[in-house]
Amino acid sequence: MTVREAKPARTKEAPAHTNGKEVPISAHVRKDLLGIEHLSKSDILGLVERSNHFNDELSRIERFPHRDTLAGLTVANLFFENSTRTRTSFELAERRLGADYVSLSPAISSLTKGESLLDTVKVLEAMKLDAIVVRHSSAGVPQFLADRLPAHVRIINAGDGAHEHPTQALLDAASLIERIGDLAGKHILIVGDIRHSRVARSNIWLLKKLGAAITLVGPRTLLPKDIGSIFDVRVSDDLEPELSGADAIIALRIQQERQTSGLFPTLQEYHERYGLTKQRLKNTSAIVLHPGPINLGVELDANVAYGERSLVLKQVKRGVAIRMAVLEWLFETTNT
Ligand code: NCD
Repeated sequence: MTVREAKPARTKEAPAHTNGKEVPISAHVRKDLLGIEHLSKSDILGLVERSNHFNDELSRIERFPHRDTLAGLTVANLFFENSTRTRTSFELAERRLGADYVSLSPAISSLTKGESLLDTVKVLEAMKLDAIVVRHSSAGVPQFLADRLPAHVRIINAGDGAHEHPTQALLDAASLIERIGDLAGKHILIVGDIRHSRVARSNIWLLKKLGAAITLVGPRTLLPKDIGSIFDVRVSDDLEPELSGADAIIALRIQQERQTSGLFPTLQEYHERYGLTKQRLKNTSAIVLHPGPINLGVELDANVAYGERSLVLKQVKRGVAIRMAVLEWLFETTNT
């Protein structure tokens, strides 16, 4: 899956943001965020850097300035799976950059009447859309849309099956860098349900590009066969020995809705072997991240999730900032 960007990205006759000036739609080239896999290190660091600006603003000032960066542009948020953090933070990011947006979920759209995904998108497109943020249980849906919609419609992957969740990995990286600095040479554990996790895959791509050392940890049944050799990362089913050398631990949710029977014995047993408790963290100075939603008492105890070593709430805050940076980047409007 790719971020496809033809070069030169734009001509003088086709500026990204036209401020009401007429630009032939055919003059646009594709630019989407479909995954981390094909992002460059400088793209990643540029987005992290820009998110710092928005994040600082969020800490410093009482009211967000009114921005018209994306004024006149319309974004559709299509969430075919439940989401609180991701969807809300995209909506806030769109609003704070001055875009118009609509949010749809299958329950309230014609999809329940048998309309196909492509029909829905074509209908929306006919109403003049500039970007689609899409979350879907099937891997490849964002790519499918990018292959079929005109170039001026930007596609942003908000999580597709177990494939990628690029904005989550970007916000994780930004939160990590804020706390522990340059990630080159840092040792990061990704712990839990690797098998079903798009967050794990996007994080592996991203952390490797930034030079971190990664160990995937979880029950063998939740570690896909060959994942270590495919991504060239270490794999272990034993958490305890990994803890002491770790700089950060990214805990993943046990995705009970995607579990087929028998992948691990019980949540209690999972917690005993892989749950992050205060006691277990005595063996490490690592910081703790989790993309949410957390199964408290399974992946993390509450006093860890909201304790001083946890970045969980910083990640949530960073979610808005990173999505502002991504939207701005896709429309090439970095000027405020
Ligand atoms: C993740 C997701 O939906 O992929 N959550 C999120 O985006 N905040 C992880 C998860 O659901 O476990």
